[in-house]
Amino acid sequence: KSIKVFAPATVANVVCGFDILGFAVNEPGDELMMELTEKPGVNIVSIEGDEGKLPLDPQKNTVSASVISLLKQIGREDLGVNIRLKKKMPMGSGLGSSAASAVAGLFALNELLDQPLTKEQLLPFAMEGEALACGHGHADNVAPALFGGFTLIKSYEPLEVIALPVPNLYCALLYPHVDVPTRDARQIIRSKVLLKDAVTQWGNIAGLISSLYTQDYDLLGRCMKDVIVEPVRSMLIPEFDKMKETAMENGALGFGISGSGPTVFSLYRSADNAQKVLSNLKQLLASKGIESN
Ligand code: HSE
Repeated sequence: KSIKVFAPATVANVVCGFDILGFAVNEPGDELMMELTEKPGVNIVSIEGDEGKLPLDPQKNTVSASVISLLKQIGREDLGVNIRLKKKMPMGSGLGSSAASAVAGLFALNELLDQPLTKEQLLPFAMEGEALACGHGHADNVAPALFGGFTLIKSYEPLEVIALPVPNLYCALLYPHVDVPTRDARQIIRSKVLLKDAVTQWGNIAGLISSLYTQDYDLLGRCMKDVIVEPVRSMLIPEFDKMKETAMENGALGFGISGSGPTVFSLYRSADNAQKVLSNLKQLLASKGIESN
């Protein structure tokens, strides 16, 4: 028995919702082929598109490690699982690459076994994969990769995910080729927050959620502000302020860091507008000697 699945890239945080908001995009994403065999054990048969960077050791690889946990949980360690992964998005770029791979593996296995678990039940296994990949098991990438659309992690303990209305907008993603590991990008955030900043932040989060229900995208744009994480993390992204200014002056509703960066994202009412700004931002980075795609 075999299956081929696709798991999308995701934009986590969505500016003000650190660790709680995320949405899936149509592309890019990962493709994964899984086959059940008679010989017990989980094997990574091949990985394409990772430039040899991902571990093939089943215990260390995000995909196989979460599949192994799932098999253990459902008492099916007698099964043999062969995995072929095609990475079709940049890794360590802030697009939820490890989340997509983990979700693809778990989803594929669950389908091959005729869905012993619900998507909600698969989520903690995908979070384990995240913890392995970047040292922290956040769910704001894995939830939208698994459920699709726009999701809110209402709470981590107990884990509760809410599917939100998906806005009818276009998302432009630009990946500047600089290295910003999630692990490091988490370490530089202050662990204490001023009450006045917290008030601003939760006002924006509440406004953003409201805008999704009312489809008031001007409000959504006004709520895409982050006074806690972005001011610190944006220092790791070259030309962040200039890119933001350019996007906002040219029709973006909002602009921010995708996940922990370095990819930046912005939202638009029209696809043409999104394309135009994207090429402006690319040129801007190129003029400073920074490659991007
Ligand atoms: N919420 C996580 C963070 C997402 O910002 O660190 C990582 O992609």
